[in-house]
Amino acid sequence: MTEFSTPFGVKKSDRKLTKEELIRAIRLSIADEYEAIQVYEEIAESTEHEKAKKILLDIVEEEKIHVGEFMYLLKTLIPEEETFYNEGYKEAKEIIEEK
Ligand SMILES: [Fe+2]
Repeated sequence: MTEFSTPFGVKKSDRKLTKEELIRAIRLSIADEYEAIQVYEEIAESTEHEKAKKILLDIVEEEKIHVGEFMYLLKTLIPEEETFYNEGYKEAKEIIEEK
């Protein structure tokens, strides 16, 4: 789905991932989950078939759970990165709460 680089040139390698490659693969997987959410929402919004819409939106919720799982895994692999996320939350909060 996404067109980022992958840790390997092909989908499967004959060796195990290094930790750095695993981290990149998880980031790529998070991007894939968000792309899936976008695609399924667009399809749901583009159909009048109510049952298809219901299933697609149910899958969207599942993909959001997958994002959470990957984010937790990423946090476990590189806990120091959370400092940057927290800084981003803080900066955005300050802008939103500006009067
Ligand atoms: Fe997923």
